[in-house]
Amino acid sequence: MAQTIAVLDFGSQLTQVIARRIRECQVYSKIYHFSTPAAKLRADGVVGIILSGGPQSVYARTAPHPDPAIFQLGVPVLGICYGVQLMGHFLGGKVALSKAREYGHGHLTIRKPGRLFAGLPKRLRIWNSHGDKLTKLPPGFVATAVSENSPFAGIEDARRRFYGIQFHPEVFHTERGVDMIRNFLVRVCGARQDWTTRDFIAHAVADIRAKVGKGRVLLGLSGGVDSSVAAALLHKAIGRQLTCVFVDNGLLRQGERAYVEALYKRNFKIDLRVVDASALFLKRLRDVTEPEQKRKIIGRTFVEVFEKSLKSIGGAEFLGQGTLYPDVIESVSIQGNPASLIKTHHNVGGLPARMKLRLIEPLRELFKDEVRRVGAALGLPREVVWRQPFPGPGLGVRVMGDITAEKLEILRHADAVLQDEMMKSGHYGKVWQSFAVFLPVKTVGVFGDERTYDYVIALRIVESTDAMTADWARLPHDLLRKISSRITNEVRGVSRVVLDISSKPPATIEWE
Ligand code: XMP
Repeated sequence: MAQTIAVLDFGSQLTQVIARRIRECQVYSKIYHFSTPAAKLRADGVVGIILSGGPQSVYARTAPHPDPAIFQLGVPVLGICYGVQLMGHFLGGKVALSKAREYGHGHLTIRKPGRLFAGLPKRLRIWNSHGDKLTKLPPGFVATAVSENSPFAGIEDARRRFYGIQFHPEVFHTERGVDMIRNFLVRVCGARQDWTTRDFIAHAVADIRAKVGKGRVLLGLSGGVDSSVAAALLHKAIGRQLTCVFVDNGLLRQGERAYVEALYKRNFKIDLRVVDASALFLKRLRDVTEPEQKRKIIGRTFVEVFEKSLKSIGGAEFLGQGTLYPDVIESVSIQGNPASLIKTHHNVGGLPARMKLRLIEPLRELFKDEVRRVGAALGLPREVVWRQPFPGPGLGVRVMGDITAEKLEILRHADAVLQDEMMKSGHYGKVWQSFAVFLPVKTVGVFGDERTYDYVIALRIVESTDAMTADWARLPHDLLRKISSRITNEVRGVSRVVLDISSKPPATIEWE
């Protein structure tokens, strides 16, 4: 039985990042609603509690407060940011309202390492993001570290094992932040570091079984990393109660459909239905040139085809989705702020409400690299686990202007050559994305002794860490030469290859 660290969520977007850091330390954690009764935490056998950050002031009328009895459980507590104000507020200290938010880099000077800062250098860069400040320590506490703006950047009551830090140890910008979290888990709570990807899988499998019971789950398999790992995990949990649907929308890459069929149907023995709807998609897309309109048509048609296949399998109670934690944040911010909608993504939301299915999202709390590890542990091949992202609307947004079967064929071929060279040279896994774009522009060329008048292919190869910003990859010229000469020689209908050297922003990664 794994020892559980409870993370009480007070509404910070960083709560999941805290959970992730705990997993990195190979300790099991569970995120609880901030108001969870102490008795429930005791019943769950938690060995430590972390109070997350949050956007509110502890004095606000609507401020989230924990059950005060959590401080009587006798288990260690670590308050982070808002969490430390809560400790001040509930344990007899003083918190001052502050008008301005302190945000950004700061410096920490450790005065008394204690258990929390054990083994760390005396001075560290930290990341702040808080409004209120602790101005008087609660009885029993001492200050352990100071920052430019606070004499109480770190506090502790070693006897009761209560610790507080004003900054965010979970973010990358705080130097050695993970070590502070590990110190709390191991040196303070005495947690064992034995939680692995296999344990995550075992837990997720039990969870899925409990949720689904004898029900049926339908999952749209795209062949990308997220839905592939979700499918493999669901399959491990419920076997034939899972049906996957792969929609061939006619906008797939070369060999994609055959590959997905071979892998999941033959190798994994998943109940996979391949629906060839390419004619329908291409018919609806005929003469459509506007990118957002293309996306809407592709999204709507996908839902329609998917609904039909739901009927043909005799219905289901659950819809499986490979939603990851970053998708959750992104779609929340998009919904909350219409101005931030740059391109319509149709992966999250929409489907379940209309189909009256209950959502099952076993990867919802994970980050991409964790999902890759889960996929590898489930036996998915390397080339699937390390696949570059591919947009839902597929080649539909990579053929500029109107889409025809002929243009798609040219693009598929050129793209396959590009991928082949990227793989062979070892660059495929080093960049974020590498793909070809079809330009409906004809230019003059010469092939053998003949004049040609053919299309242009653009190469889009970018580096990025999260797709929010990106830069074009500086690939060796010899590799670019090889790709270009292979495309112009092997792909009929192309007489010219150009390289896209725009960064994001201002350009986006995809051309449409
Ligand atoms: P942009 O073009 O906005 O792309 O810089 C950022 C990342 O998102 C992918 N992308 C999509 N993925 N559905 C998806 O599932 C979409 O409609 C979509 N549009 C863009 C793109 O490939 C890149 O990785």
